[in-house]
Amino acid sequence: MKALDGVRILDFTHVQSGPTCTQLLAWFGADVIKVERPGVGDITRGQLQDIPKVDSLYFTMLNHNKRSITVDSKNPKGKEVIEALIQTCDVLVENFAPGALDRMGFTWERVHALNPRMVLASIKGFGPGPYEDCKVYENVAQCAGGSASTTGFDDGPPLVTGAQIGDSGTGLHLALGIVCALFQRNATGVGQKVSVAMQDGVLNLCRVKLRDQQRLAHGPLTEFPQYPNGKFGDAVPRAGNASGGGQPGWILKCKGWEIDPNAYIYFICQAPVWEKICDVIGKPEWKTDSDYAKPPARLPKLKQIFDTIEQWTMTKTKFDAMDILNKYDIPCGPILSMKEIAEEQSLRDTGTVVEVDHPTRGTYLSVGNPIKMSASASEVKRSPLLGEHTAEILRDVLRFDPARIAEIEASGAIGAPVRAAAE
Ligand SMILES: CC(C)(COP(=O)(O)OP(=O)(O)OC[C@H]1O[C@@H](n2cnc3c(N)ncnc32)[C@H](O)[C@@H]1OP(=O)(O)O)[C@@H](O)C(=O)NCCC(=O)NCCS
Repeated sequence: MKALDGVRILDFTHVQSGPTCTQLLAWFGADVIKVERPGVGDITRGQLQDIPKVDSLYFTMLNHNKRSITVDSKNPKGKEVIEALIQTCDVLVENFAPGALDRMGFTWERVHALNPRMVLASIKGFGPGPYEDCKVYENVAQCAGGSASTTGFDDGPPLVTGAQIGDSGTGLHLALGIVCALFQRNATGVGQKVSVAMQDGVLNLCRVKLRDQQRLAHGPLTEFPQYPNGKFGDAVPRAGNASGGGQPGWILKCKGWEIDPNAYIYFICQAPVWEKICDVIGKPEWKTDSDYAKPPARLPKLKQIFDTIEQWTMTKTKFDAMDILNKYDIPCGPILSMKEIAEEQSLRDTGTVVEVDHPTRGTYLSVGNPIKMSASASEVKRSPLLGEHTAEILRDVLRFDPARIAEIEASGAIGAPVRAAAE
C-alpha cells in the first residue's frame, strides 16, 4: 500500500512548478491524470530537447508516475470530459496564468458546485497585490522573493541560484497544502482552495534573510564578510559564501582547484570543535591565543582565519579533507559536481538517483523521491507519452460507453482517434 492510494488528482499543471507537486503526490501513490492540449501537450515536452522528436528530459524528469489524457478544455465536448473528471477526482491542481482557469469556465464556485469534496490547488507567481496578474517563471520568483538580492558577492550583481526554489520549491509547498486539505476533508467532508504564490514560497525559504534585515537595525551583521571593514547599507547585503547561520563558514580551495572548477570544500568553523580545527590545520597556538580562542574574537578576523585554513585544504583533495575533518566531527562538505552526483553509488542505492527506461528515449537518469517513508515505498515510473492514457481514462475512469467516446472523438475535443489504443 502507498500513502495516497485511492486519491485521484486532476493534474492541469504545466512547465515545472505544478508538475513537481503532482509528481510528488504520484510517488506517494495518488493516481495523477495529467490533462494536456491535444497535439501540443505540456510545452516542456518540446523544450531543451536533446533527442529530436523525443520527450525532453525537462518533461520526463518532472512527470513520472502520471497518466496523460489529451483534452481541449475550450471545446464543449472537452468541457464535458473535464467536468466528469472533476466529479471523479479528489484534487484539481493547476498553475495557469492568473485567470486562465476561470476563462475556461472552471471557477472555484463552479468546481465546488460540481464536486464539493474537491480540493482546488493553485500556484501563481504572486498573491493579491500589485503584481497579481503577472505571468511568472522561476527566476522572477527568485528575484521578487528576496533570494537574488541576497545571493552573490558584495561587489557583484544579484544572482539567481541553481536550485529551483521558485518552481520546485513552490511545488513542494503546494503538495503540503494539498495533503493538509485532504486531511481536513476527512473530518469535514468538504474541499477547499489551496493557493501558493511563488514569491511567498521563495520568501519562506529566505526567512533567515528577513531575520538579518531586522538585525541590521541593531548593528552590523558580524558574521558577514563585510564585517568589520566593509559598509552596511539599509538592506541585507549579499554574503558571498558566508553560512547564514550562527557558525561561520566559507568555501575553500582544495588540491587541484587550478584545473577542476569544483575542487572546493565548504568549511564550517563550528565553535565546539575550534580546538580540533586548530590542531588539524597546524595552528595549535590559536587554542589559547585570546585573539582566536573565543568566537567573538574571531569574527573580525574570519577572512584571515579562512585564508589560513585554506592553506591546509589546498594540500588535500576535497574527499581527503572530508575524511580527515569528519574524524574530528568538523562540519564540512565537498562541492560535488552534477557528474559526481550522477555517479555516486550511495544515491543510487537509496533511490535518490534512479535510472528510468522510456520507450522512445531509452534509459535516462532522474531524481527519485527524496522523501523516504518506511511503509510507502516510491517506485519511479516513466512519464507518459502525450495522450497515452486518453482511451483508458475515458473508458475505465469515466466509464463512458463507446458511443459517447465516438461522439467526443468526432468533436475534435481529444485530438487523434483513441479507439485503437482503447482496444
Ligand atoms: C508559466 C506561465 C508563465 C506560462 O504561460 P503561458 O505559456 O502563456 O500559459 P498560460 O498559463 O497563460 O495558458 C495558456 C493558455 O492555454 C490554455 N490551455 C491550457 N491547457 C489547455 C487545454 N488542455 N485545452 C485548451 N486550452 C488550454 C489556457 O486556457 C490559456 O488560455 P487563455 O490565456 O486563452 O485563457 C503561466 O502559466 C504562469 O504564470 N503560471 C503561474 C505561475 C507558474 O506556475 N510559473 C512557473 C511555471 S514553471
